[in-house]
Amino acid sequence: MADTFTALVAEQADGRTVVKRTPLEEAALPPGDVTIDVAYSSLNYKDGLALTGRGKVIRKWPMVPGIDLAGRVRASTSGRFKPGDAVLVTGNGLGVSTWGGYSQRARVKESAVLPIPPGLDARTSMAIGTAGFTAALCVMALQDHGTLKTDREFVVTGAAGGVGSIAVALLAALGRKVVASTGRTAEADYLRKLGAADIIGRDVLAQKGPPLASERWGGGVDTVGGQTLVTLCSQTAYRGAVAACGLAGGSDFPGTVFPFILRNVALLGCDSDMTPNDERKRAWKLLVDHVGKLHLDEVTQEVPMSQLVEFAPRIVDGQVRGRVVVNVNG
Ligand SMILES: NC(=O)c1ccc[n+]([C@@H]2O[C@H](COP(=O)([O-])OP(=O)(O)OC[C@H]3O[C@@H](n4cnc5c(N)ncnc54)[C@H](OP(=O)(O)O)[C@@H]3O)[C@@H](O)[C@H]2O)c1
Repeated sequence: MADTFTALVAEQADGRTVVKRTPLEEAALPPGDVTIDVAYSSLNYKDGLALTGRGKVIRKWPMVPGIDLAGRVRASTSGRFKPGDAVLVTGNGLGVSTWGGYSQRARVKESAVLPIPPGLDARTSMAIGTAGFTAALCVMALQDHGTLKTDREFVVTGAAGGVGSIAVALLAALGRKVVASTGRTAEADYLRKLGAADIIGRDVLAQKGPPLASERWGGGVDTVGGQTLVTLCSQTAYRGAVAACGLAGGSDFPGTVFPFILRNVALLGCDSDMTPNDERKRAWKLLVDHVGKLHLDEVTQEVPMSQLVEFAPRIVDGQVRGRVVVNVNG
């Protein structure tokens, strides 16, 4: 690769976020142990907020956005990695407080870098990306809590989105009966193809109900927050659990403690940014073990980095189905 490379650079101008494709030189890269020739990144909800400026995601300006990346090591001062190694990075402040994935080149600290697991490549690892990795963390949280042993149904909210699609497919691959909650009934066939046994309207779960409703769910994965998360907790059966990772519908929690103190329901918080590396490896193994059933071809579309800024509002507006991989050389 030539000495100059292209990145998206986000700046603040009159309180607005402006993102431009910018040619850069090696000297612009931040300090770090591992320099990576990036092949793919992905578009997550958080990236949509960062690129459009609709959420206060970026903590330092100017910033190269993009919360994940995959590619090959170009240079390394770390004993763990050598030039040519296939690697990925998710979270660890990427695209928020440190140089992110929307760049043909990146430099990161070695603790943030994982080898791309056998069975995946740069593109498929970013087809999964932060969203799929987070879905795996949620499923692992349910597993570790012992929740997946029940024969009851499991509900996934925001099911046609990135986290939701992979969560539906993964829970189905693990033999659970999955009910996919979506605001897009037109995506019912897509969700059934991923393994959903049934579909429930987004509006049904967004309605305020009693603090303790009839026990329906063994548990769930929630990407929506707000009243939807409250409803899930109120409908979860005794000793069930809900893994919560998102706020696509709201960041509040307008509920009561009754599901927790009377039904032993657990609310399991899931963060993908600061996850320790042993858990990261477990999550990627879970994904790789079931990769054939994640239907990545069906789930994924590709957008060249040159068109990403124009494309980004769609994910914040809830118009993107499944996952978007970003070809940083396109
Ligand atoms: N905690 C973490 O580390 C972590 C990591 C990754 C993602 N997240 C969060 O998880 C959520 C999903 O991320 P993503 O990348 O999968 O985003 P995404 O692809 O945009 O999916 C979000 C989905 O939520 C549903 N939705 C959108 N607007 C909604 C609204 N106003 N009310 C109810 N549902 C709505 C839509 O699904 P339907 O059309 O099917 O209803 C949409 O596809 C985001 O809030 C994101 O910030 C958190």
